[in-house]
Parts: sequence; C-alpha cells; structure tokens
Amino acid sequence: MTDPIVAEQLTKTYSNGTKAVQGISFSVRSGEAFGFLGPNGAGKTTTVSMLSAGLAPTSGRGMVGGLDIARDASKIKRRIGIVFQESTADGDLTGRENLEVSAALYGLPRREARRRTEELLQRMELAEAADRLVKTYSGGMRRRLELGVGIVHSPPILFLDEPTLGLDPQGRAGFWRYIRGLRSEHGLTVFLTTHYLDEADQLCDRIAIVDHGQIVATGTPAELKDKVGGDVVTIRPVPGAADPSAVLRALPGALSVQPQDGTVRLKCESGERMVPLAVEACARAGVGVAGVSVQRPSLDEVFLQFTGREYREEEGPTATDRAVRIQRLQERRR
Ligand SMILES: Nc1ncnc2c1ncn2[C@@H]1O[C@H](COP(=O)(O)OP(=O)(O)OP(=O)(O)O)[C@@H](O)[C@H]1O
Ligand SMILES: [Mg+2]
Repeated sequence: MTDPIVAEQLTKTYSNGTKAVQGISFSVRSGEAFGFLGPNGAGKTTTVSMLSAGLAPTSGRGMVGGLDIARDASKIKRRIGIVFQESTADGDLTGRENLEVSAALYGLPRREARRRTEELLQRMELAEAADRLVKTYSGGMRRRLELGVGIVHSPPILFLDEPTLGLDPQGRAGFWRYIRGLRSEHGLTVFLTTHYLDEADQLCDRIAIVDHGQIVATGTPAELKDKVGGDVVTIRPVPGAADPSAVLRALPGALSVQPQDGTVRLKCESGERMVPLAVEACARAGVGVAGVSVQRPSLDEVFLQFTGREYREEEGPTATDRAVRIQRLQERRR
C-alpha cells in the first residue's frame, strides 16, 4: 500500500513570481498525524492547497489516497476533509444548516445527512447552539463547526490548516481533544499546519519544519530535539542590569547565548553544571540575577538551529490571510 499522502518535489511559483514552495518531498503514513511547522509565509497553506487538489503545482507530484492531485482532483476532494485557516461556514445560516448543506454537497442521502448532522452537533458540543446563526458563535464554536463541516462525509484523510489560529489555549485544547478522539476511533490520517510549536510537539507523530518554501528538518518531536541536543539555561537579570550575554558566551561549555525578552538563553551540554558557573559569572560582572531555570530543548531550539532564526509568532495578518485578501480585491476589480 502506498502512503496516504505523498509529495515529490512539489513546487509552486505564483504568477507574481513568488516562489512559495520550492521542491518539497515527504510522505505521511496511514493513521499518522503529520505536522507542517513554519513561520508566516513559509508555504504551509500553499502546500495544503496543492495536496488537497485545490491548487495546481508548478512542478512535482502529489499523491493523496493513492490518487494523483493533478489528474484526480475531484475524486480526491470527495475523499478528504479540509479545515482551513479561514472560516468557510455561512454566518447567516445556523450551525445545523451549515452541516446539513455540506452533507448534501457530499452527496449524503437526506436521512443520512440529518443523522450525521445530529451526531456531529453532539460530538462538537454544539447541540445547544445548533439553531443559532453562526455569526453569533464564539471563535471556539466556529472552529468546532468548521471541523464538523470538514469531516461530515467521514473522510479517512484530514487536512487542517492552522485550525486553531486565534483561539485561546482552552479553545485550542478543546479542538485537539476532538481530533484525538477521531484519530483513536477511526485511525484518521491527519496533515496539519500550525504556528504553535507546543501544539505540534504534543499532537504530531512526525513534524516537518518548513522555511522559505523548503523543508529544513523532519522527524518525530523527540528525534528533532535529540538532533539539537543539550539543555537551555534561562537567566533573568534584575531589571535595569547590564546584558550579561558577552560574559556568559565566554564560559566553558556555553554553546550559544541569545538575549530574549529581558532574559538570556544559554545553550549548553549540561544545564545542571552550567547554572552555578553562569550565576557566578554574572555576579563577577556586577549583574544581579533575579531567576534561573533549566529546560530540555524544545521545538523552539530545533527551529532556531535549523533556520538560524528565533521562532516568533508575528503580529498582524498572516501571509495566507494577506494573499486571500489580495486575491479577493483583484477578483472584485476584474
Ligand atoms: N495567491 C497568491 N498569490 C501570490 N502570492 C501568494 C499567494 N498566496 C500566497 N502567496 C505568497 O506565497 C508565500 C507563501 O504563502 P503561504 O500562504 O503558503 O504561507 P503560510 O506558510 O501559509 O503562511 P501563514 O502562516 O502566514 O499562513 C508568501 O510569500 C505569500 O505572500
Ligand atoms: Mg497559511
């Protein structure tokens, strides 16, 4: 059996010349949750759009459920579920209506569509709000409805493009509980993109880190962290103290030193051995220390190592959001 999702040298150059995806290859195994992790504009949505047969690649090949994305787009669309970063539900219809319409669009017979709608309303904890207009829903309720709409036809493969963007931690945790449930019950294969490193860490069996349209690292979260190795000692100088980065950088065993948000992150082989050295060095330099902590590497460190940049959740609209807005404007002007 071929893997449910396979990408071979997938490439997308938009008509304005933007090289959004530059030769991406990977495969997702059956039942796996595969995370695509990268900053704004990395090419995540473009990749999801190509694999879900909604956007033609400039070159390369993609196979989904054993079908070719270039040749079998309409068949693929019927067999997969997608939840986009953007809301697709109609705000002027109720939650129940949105689900029923989607079920009908997938060709479910009316009785089956009703049964499935009720099941999903229960499952997504939307039964009480079922007959309210969607525009009155909270962000979390909308996202749950989107998920319901995305899986109304019980697809074996689910694409999620930043499904929890903008939700608070509680809303995010709730959303992922449903996904976990679906996976354990139905062995769903999930391809997801996210900005949230911790989310990818907890949910994904394997992760690809993407940057500038290319995969810079792939592996299980544990493998990726092992590749980075070492501990991180975070030192918080007292307010107004000088930056101790230079002093810390000179310590034996200091692998890298990065100031961040009023603290200094020091990577080293052993955090335990580094702490007393670092505190002493700060004291010698006349820098008061308000706090010290030691952490095993997180995906933040993995990201920094493979891209040479800090992982930052940028402010403002996402690249996808901007591209969608530009496209809409252009369409309106035509
Ligand atoms: N329709 C389009 N036309 C032209 N350029 C586009 C279009 N869609 C996306 N881009 C550009 O392609 C690059 C990749 O965009 P994409 O939306 O795939 O990134 P992303 O990883 O999903 O980012 P985000 O996390 O912000 O959603 C960006 O530089 C973006 O501006
Ligand atoms: Mg996107």
